[in-house]
Amino acid sequence: MAPDPSPLIQLATAYWGSATLIAAVRLRMPTHLSQGAATSEEVAARAGTEAVATDALLAGLVSLGLAEKTPAGQFRNTALADTFLVEGRPGFLGPALLYNGDVYPLWSRLDAVVRTGHVTQTPDQYLGDDAERTRNFVYGMHHRALGVGRAVAAVIDLTGRRRLADIGGGPGTYSALLTQKTPGLTAEVLDLPAVADIAREIVAGMGAGDRVTCTPFDYYKDTLTGTYDAVLISGVLHREQPDGVRSILAKASAASAPGAVIHLSDVMLDDDRAGPLFGTMFALNMRVLAHDGRCHSVAEQTSWLDEVGYTVTAVHRLPAPIHYTVIRAEKRA
Ligand SMILES: C[S@@+](CC[C@H](N)C(=O)[O-])C[C@H]1O[C@@H](n2cnc3c(N)ncnc32)[C@H](O)[C@@H]1O
Repeated sequence: MAPDPSPLIQLATAYWGSATLIAAVRLRMPTHLSQGAATSEEVAARAGTEAVATDALLAGLVSLGLAEKTPAGQFRNTALADTFLVEGRPGFLGPALLYNGDVYPLWSRLDAVVRTGHVTQTPDQYLGDDAERTRNFVYGMHHRALGVGRAVAAVIDLTGRRRLADIGGGPGTYSALLTQKTPGLTAEVLDLPAVADIAREIVAGMGAGDRVTCTPFDYYKDTLTGTYDAVLISGVLHREQPDGVRSILAKASAASAPGAVIHLSDVMLDDDRAGPLFGTMFALNMRVLAHDGRCHSVAEQTSWLDEVGYTVTAVHRLPAPIHYTVIRAEKRA
């Protein structure tokens, strides 16, 4: 019997749901609905959108489980939308979700990337060249770290450590969370200049400005000047091919005393590099975004850590929605 083609149709149209979610967040529909149940005409008036298309969008949100329609024809948020899609709520994930909307045009050129091996847009737009995109990107990382990313901070125990280097620390959220839960720990967020500027503002907003500093740092060009007893490299190595990873790990090792701890936290692949699904898709996402984007397996990173003097002591696999694995290793004497 011939296989059922349904999975192909489902895959080919999967972006419809993504586009509906992204449009709703861009138009702040869940925030408008949080003001109270309303007809599509009323929602359109709140959002400043066209009424007939707004009705179609809201119906799509109902089908996706993000809104409900009452018997009286009014729309309201589901608990999922109310918790994560309303501006100002602690769980708000808007900027992190919108980032996927920014990246979507790059995915539509995936075939060109695979044909040529070159990205179709410079990734530097998110890392300083375009001020608004950089800001959205850094705040997106912050919201993600504060929400689903708390699971990462929860498995990192830095008790007794004094000085953390957070390489490619982005918004500084993990450094702030880790200093807040670890007496005596100070942290240095090391990231590109435009990102470090925004991180300083975020860290101050979290009340951690006295224990977290944000330093301009380019891991291609700069070396670490201090001596650290803890290093965190979170969500960074997926931008790099193996030689790039080795070089960053060597810099971390050179600045770490024997007994120092390092945590690598990222989306990681199975050792055969053919799964899991989120990992292989995320690896493609990084390939359309960054010149050297690649996801790595735990086995690969264990061996690269070993080369620069670290022994892996624990591996924590965190489930959806974060999909991160955290490798802990210690610097040998
Ligand atoms: C996905 S973000 C992860 C941020 C943060 N560590 C986290 O887990 O939330 C990757 C970070 O790597 C930084 N980065 C990229 N290239 C860099 C470079 N050459 N030197 C230093 N940081 C870099 C980016 O600016 C960005 O903040």
